[in-house]
Amino acid sequence: MENFTFYSPTKFVFGQDTENECGNLIRSFGGSRVLVHYGGGSVVRSGLLDRVKASLSASGLCFCELGGVCPNPRDTKVYEGIELCVKEKIDFILAVGGGSTIDSAKAIAMGVPYDGDFWDFYSGKAPQTALPVGTVLTIAAAGSEGSGDSVITKESGMLKRGASGECIRPKFSVLNPELTTTLPPFQTACGATDIMAHVFERYFTNTRDVETTDRLCEAVLLAMINETPKVVANPKDYQARANVMWAGMVAHNNIVGVGRKQDWNSHGIEHELSALYDCAHGAGLAVVMPAWMTYVLDHDVMRFAQMACRVWGCKMDFANPRTTALEGISAFRRFLKTIGMPLTFSELGAKEEDIPTLVNNFGLGDGKTGGFVSLSSEDVANIYRLAL
Ligand code: NZQ
Ligand code: ZN
Repeated sequence: MENFTFYSPTKFVFGQDTENECGNLIRSFGGSRVLVHYGGGSVVRSGLLDRVKASLSASGLCFCELGGVCPNPRDTKVYEGIELCVKEKIDFILAVGGGSTIDSAKAIAMGVPYDGDFWDFYSGKAPQTALPVGTVLTIAAAGSEGSGDSVITKESGMLKRGASGECIRPKFSVLNPELTTTLPPFQTACGATDIMAHVFERYFTNTRDVETTDRLCEAVLLAMINETPKVVANPKDYQARANVMWAGMVAHNNIVGVGRKQDWNSHGIEHELSALYDCAHGAGLAVVMPAWMTYVLDHDVMRFAQMACRVWGCKMDFANPRTTALEGISAFRRFLKTIGMPLTFSELGAKEEDIPTLVNNFGLGDGKTGGFVSLSSEDVANIYRLAL
């Protein structure tokens, strides 16, 4: 195991009706003038926005609103939010929605105290300070409610890029599983796929002697395999929703990833798909991740065989562990299919002729990237081809 620092100071308030505590929570973190940020309208239709605003009013907070964040959130909305925050002297941002809304809120939070263009933070510059952000989560998926990350798409050129920094980790996140019961099965399954991918990106590592985090990863994956079909079949199953919602946080605040090298190439390869085709991130991952697994399998057959046995219940073929490893990847694919995920480029609406564009946007040039298996541009193209 490698040395690490784990610091995850977000306060999580979990359970039914917890959105009514927003006002008090913002006050406890020193907020007085609040931007309420939300997406395309699901929180308006469900009545959640009204309940949140009532809670803010009851705590005597001033607030203004900015809705309209779209999935794969855009830089244009971020600029609008920064301008509004400066004009209204906002000192706290409350994101009410999914990962896209939370990521947009984090981007605005970094942009307000910064003299330059906020996009600098999505081009490699480390943010030093940001307005405090709180969240009311409505979809278990991205894990942004507990992460120090934000992913934004630049509209000109449709480039999807990430920023990271401790200053954008939410101060608090309200997690009420009931708020996720309005999600349609497809969106639910996209979220579940993303959660599982966040674990896999950490699971496939070259670091030895990481049994504790290996077992934590496997536990989260087993819980997801058990609970996801329940929420897809019955969106109103509160207990299953609760388990999936907590899994989404655990999968991405890095508790399952400390002390080990990680490999986020599947995410990078997927981000180019959701940037170019505006598909759901989780759906893109369902297409990319099994292809990536198949492509890198021979780098560490035993790790894939371990996943096959411990996560998918395959029987170890000691004479030929590669067979077991392949069975594990097939089991993952079958699972994704049963929850309604696409598995191929065509199901996603992606096109073979766009592969050079996707690879070019990935931006590796002649370089290589990857913590588990180092990939070149040619490898990335081969993985897209495997996903056809
Ligand atoms: O916009 P509204 O109307 O709210 O509708 C949303 C949106 O259309 C809808 N939705 C959300 N909650 C709902 C609901 N519909 C009905 N009932 C509810 N309770 O679902 C759609 C998707 O929402 P979105 O916020 O885009 O989903 P998600 O949480 O999956 O976020 C995806 C974004 O997060 C990024 C992804 O790349 C993508 O841009 N990621 C962010 C990460 C992070 N910050 O740490 C890590 C992830 O790996 C990921 O890359
Ligand atoms: Zn993800």
